[in-house]
Amino acid sequence: MCGIVGYVGPRDSQDILIAGLARLEYRGYDSAGIAVIDSEGAMHSAKKAGKLAKLRDELVANPIASGTTGIGHTRWATHGGPTDVNAHPHLADEGKLAVIHNGIIENFAALKAELLAEGASFLSETDTEVAAALLGSEYRKSGGDLVAAFRGVVNRLDGAFTLLAMHEDHPNLVVGARRNSPLVIGLGEGENFLGSDVAAFVEHTRNALAIGQDQIAAIRPEGVTLTDFSGNDVEPEPFEVKWDAKAAEKGGWPSFMAKEISEEPEAVANTVLGRTRDGQVVIPELEGLDDLFRGISRIVIVGAGTAAYSAFVGKYAIEQWARIPVEVELAHEFRYRSPLVGPDVLVVSISQSGETMDTLMAVKEATRLGAKTLSICNTQGATIPRESDAVVYLHAGPEVAVASTKAFVAQITGLYLFALHLGRVRGTVPAEVQAESIDELNTLPEKIRWILENEQEHIEQLAHWMADTRSVLFLGRHVGYPIALEGALKLKEISYIHAEGFAAGELKHGPIALVEPGLPVFVVVPSPSGAPELHSKVVSNIQEIRARGARVIAIAEAGDAAVLPFADEVLRIPLAEPLFEPILAVVPLHIFAMGLANAKGLDVDQPRNLAKSVTVE
Ligand code: F6R
Repeated sequence: MCGIVGYVGPRDSQDILIAGLARLEYRGYDSAGIAVIDSEGAMHSAKKAGKLAKLRDELVANPIASGTTGIGHTRWATHGGPTDVNAHPHLADEGKLAVIHNGIIENFAALKAELLAEGASFLSETDTEVAAALLGSEYRKSGGDLVAAFRGVVNRLDGAFTLLAMHEDHPNLVVGARRNSPLVIGLGEGENFLGSDVAAFVEHTRNALAIGQDQIAAIRPEGVTLTDFSGNDVEPEPFEVKWDAKAAEKGGWPSFMAKEISEEPEAVANTVLGRTRDGQVVIPELEGLDDLFRGISRIVIVGAGTAAYSAFVGKYAIEQWARIPVEVELAHEFRYRSPLVGPDVLVVSISQSGETMDTLMAVKEATRLGAKTLSICNTQGATIPRESDAVVYLHAGPEVAVASTKAFVAQITGLYLFALHLGRVRGTVPAEVQAESIDELNTLPEKIRWILENEQEHIEQLAHWMADTRSVLFLGRHVGYPIALEGALKLKEISYIHAEGFAAGELKHGPIALVEPGLPVFVVVPSPSGAPELHSKVVSNIQEIRARGARVIAIAEAGDAAVLPFADEVLRIPLAEPLFEPILAVVPLHIFAMGLANAKGLDVDQPRNLAKSVTVE
């Protein structure tokens, strides 16, 4: 949460900062601000509550001097509401020092009391202003050594933070540090960048340096230095960003969500690419781990939200193909309940951003308990993969819309590839099942495209008719159950409509009491040929809710006629083996959620109260 960008170099930093913030706005959009140091060495700043557009308007109405060195911030409020005063940057040392921050400083109250006793005063309710004041105080004590003072400050902060600072006395320097919160360096020619993620600077350079846990970066136009919190030099880890700036642009689409749903076929295809060999799944990143995979007795998958739903789908595949027990646990629950994991357990984390604090903390807890950890992640160089023993990157490309769509289908694909890799190593998947599964994976992109081409308009029309709906239920069985959960989450998240997902078999144990005439109920219908038993059970469930007046919208395989007498609407998906159906069945639900939010005139990319990357617990 919160987007951070820093620049040093010969160019006017304002445009660079604003463009970087525009790319990072998905991380938080409660308020935004920038600070720059002008050619005379004077600090200037501007900040505004609301989306970045408000800051842009403010800079037009009340321009600030241009300068080369600068920092920028887009905020998701934690301490203190989203107001102009609470927006970052926060200034200290009589306005000569500017600080921006992402995360939560847990000991800010004690530090504030100490600073108040020294005579400091505060304008905002934020923990960030406390860090700024502390840095001002340390700076004076250090005799003007910004890096040393900054080191002194970060060593006194508890919690999770990315902190950036610059001072008028050092007009060509930005310092930054991270603890359990993201920060990367972008390397340019005579200019350098800091960013919460590479999106902040990918327009200017694809050469990046990862910053490890508890490290401090000092960037100057001529170079960067990296040290630990004790001041010891650290060897930087370079990496090249695999996508270009265009990949993170709307490119003519009305929203990032629309663009990203249209990219679901490629998200699946790119995740499979390079991971099959001679009719078997071989994930190159996992070669060398065969002994580990043969030795484990259990897998625990941790994640949050949509990522956790992909894990629920993955559990079916891993247990079926690799014949190993799998538990799925919400990362935030895992962390705080003394989980029973040890060296015989593989803890797999799944995260699009690779920065979700709940998931990161679960991974750290698993490591502390002696378990091996594997990260399945979509974001190169993110914290969770760096904290894990092994990583399988998804290749869905940058996901900007807050609601996850293409990453979800890539996550399921990644988990399936992992299941097949594991099954091969453990000798539990016959060669023909490997080959058939690879064929299925390879045909999925075309099948998703079929849905986009043949059903999208119909689904959007349906969403339009349903714009006044107040409550929607989603039902599914087996792998369709997590898809029902995902359909409900996506709808509530971006259209603010009450939505619940249930296992269809659970209906008679309570939820059926919610059914009343006219209530829309989406039902994910299993394949009649692939899973006849499940299919007939779900058709019975449809009859039960229909008998109570529900308006049934069935997501059913092309040619499934059994649903026709009982469904008010049928959204068709192409034929697939039952285990692969979730990757298809979710597509109409993503389109529907977006269509309904659009019909209500809502911002589908930046829903209220949310941020893309949840880097606080
Ligand atoms: C919902 C959504 C969230 C995320 C969750 C985990 O559309 O996007 O539920 O899935 O916050 O995020 P990652 O995958 O980045 O760990």
